[in-house]
Amino acid sequence: MLKNPSPIAVKKICCIGAGYVGGPTMAMIAKQCPHIQVTVVDINQQRIDEWNSEELPIYEPGLHEIVSECRGKNLTFTTDVDETIRDADMVFISVNTPTKTFGVGAGRAANLEFVEKCARKIAEVSIGHKIVVEKSTLPVRTAEAVKTILSNSTTGASFDVLSNPEFLAEGTAVEDLISPDRVLIGGENETAINALVEVYANWVPRERLLTTNLWSSELSKLTANAFLAQRVSSINAISALCEATGADVDEVSTAIGTDSRIGPKFLKASVGFGGSCFQKDILNLVYLCEYFGLPEVAQYWEQVVTMNDHQKQRFVNRMVRTMFNTVSDKRIAIWGFAFKKDTNDIRESAAIYVCRDLLMEKAKLAIYDPQVKPEQMRAALESVMQDENGELNAMKRELLDNNVQYCDNGAAAADDAHAIAVLTEWDEFKDCDFEAIRDSMKQPAFVFDGRNLLKHADLCDKGFTYFGIGF
Ligand code: UDX
Ligand code: ADP
Repeated sequence: MLKNPSPIAVKKICCIGAGYVGGPTMAMIAKQCPHIQVTVVDINQQRIDEWNSEELPIYEPGLHEIVSECRGKNLTFTTDVDETIRDADMVFISVNTPTKTFGVGAGRAANLEFVEKCARKIAEVSIGHKIVVEKSTLPVRTAEAVKTILSNSTTGASFDVLSNPEFLAEGTAVEDLISPDRVLIGGENETAINALVEVYANWVPRERLLTTNLWSSELSKLTANAFLAQRVSSINAISALCEATGADVDEVSTAIGTDSRIGPKFLKASVGFGGSCFQKDILNLVYLCEYFGLPEVAQYWEQVVTMNDHQKQRFVNRMVRTMFNTVSDKRIAIWGFAFKKDTNDIRESAAIYVCRDLLMEKAKLAIYDPQVKPEQMRAALESVMQDENGELNAMKRELLDNNVQYCDNGAAAADDAHAIAVLTEWDEFKDCDFEAIRDSMKQPAFVFDGRNLLKHADLCDKGFTYFGIGF
C-alpha cells in the first residue's frame, strides 16, 4: 500500500503518438477516468483523421466501442501537438522505437530519434510543471537522456520523468488494459509516482500497481518480452525435434505446461513469433549486454532470435521439400498475414518472411487476411525484398507484380491452389467448407498449418495432405 497519496491531481493528459500503444491506452484512461481530459496527438494527419472517423487505424476487439463512448467527451485526437503539451499536467511519450537500421548499433539498438524529438518538443513548449511518462519500450537508461534534454528547457518549466512500460498484447489490448496483471511505474520522485498511481487506481487494484526505480522499470519491460519470446523459441526448437522423432509438439506442450512451475501459457508452437516488440526488445537487450561488456549474456539472448529465424526458414523448406522439391509456378494460398489474430498489425510478422522466401522460389501467392489491407502487405513485401541500398531489382519487382494476388476470402485464395499455408490463427479459418475447398484445389491438396489451428484428423479424412508444426 502506498502511504502518501499524491497532492497532484492530474486533470489533463497529453499522449504523443496515436499508435497501437498510445491509442488503446489513452482510450482506456479516458473511459475509466471521466474527470480527466485525455488528448492524443500525432504528427501523422491521416492517422488522426482515422481516429476521428468510424474506421479506426488499428483493429482491436472492443476498442471501437470505447472510442465511440469517450470521443467528443473527454477523449480527443488532434495534430495540435504544441498546444496540447502546453496545456497538460502529464505527458505520455508513446512513439515508435524501431530497431536502428543504420550507423552504430544497426540491427540491434533502438532508434530513439522519435523519442528524442518528443523530449525536445516538450522542453520547447512547456510552461509550469509537467510529469513526463515514458510509455514506449526503451533501452535502459533512456529516461536519463530524456531528463537531460528536459533540463535544458529555456521556458522555466520543471519536469519529473517516469517510466510506465506497456504490457498490453495486441488483439487483447482492451482486456489487458481493463484488468492488467500489474502496472509498473518507475521513478525517482514519490509525488510524481503517486500522481500516476492515482490515475490507474481509478480502476486497477492498488496491489497491482508496482512502483520501482526508473532503471528497474525500463529493464523489466525488456526482460518480460525476452522471457516470453524465449518460451516460444524453446517450444519451437522442440517442434523441430518432434518432427524428426514422431513426438507431437502439442502433446509435449500440454505435458510440460501442466507442471505448475512451467505453466501453460506461451507454449504454442508456431511458424515463428512476430510483432513490434519481441525481436526488437531482445536485440535491444543484446545490444545493452554487449555495450556493458557481457558477450556471453548477449549471445544467450540472441539465440532466441536466431531460433525464430530458423523456424520461419524451416517452415518454407518443409513446404518446398514436401511439394516434390519445387513450388515454382505453383499457386499457394496464404491464409493470414497479421503477426497474430485479432490485429491488423503486420510488423515482423512471420508471414512476410515466409512469403518472401516462397516468392524467391518463384511460387505464385494468393494472400488473404481478414484485417490487413493489400497495400500494407505489398509495402511489407517490397521492403523485405529490397537490397541494402533500398532498391528492388527487376526480377524481384516482377515477382511482386506478377506472382502475388490479394484475395477477398480464404476459399478464393485456395481456388486452384496446390497448397494452403496457414500463417495467422484467425478463428474464421477453422470453420471453412473444407470439402468444397479441397475440390477446388489441385491434388494432392496440401495444407501447411503454421499455427496448428485446423483439425488435423478431420482434414486428413477429407483427403488433404496435412502438415502442422512439430508433428
Ligand atoms: C508482446 C507482449 O506479450 C506484451 O506484453 C508487450 O507489451 C508487447 O509485446 P504482442 O507482441 O502484442 O505483445 O503479442 P504476443 O501475444 O506476445 O505474441 C507475440 C508473438 O508470439 C505473436 O506472433 C504470436 O503469434 C507468437 N506466439 C505467442 C507464439 O507463437 N506462441 C505462443 O505460445 C504465444
Ligand atoms: P506503437 O506500437 O509503439 O504504438 P506505432 O508506430 O503504432 O507504434 O505508433 C507510434 C506513433 O507515434 C505513430 O503514429 C507516429 O506518427 C507517432 N509519432 C512519431 N514521432 C512523433 C512525434 N515526434 N510527434 C508526434 N507523434 C509522433
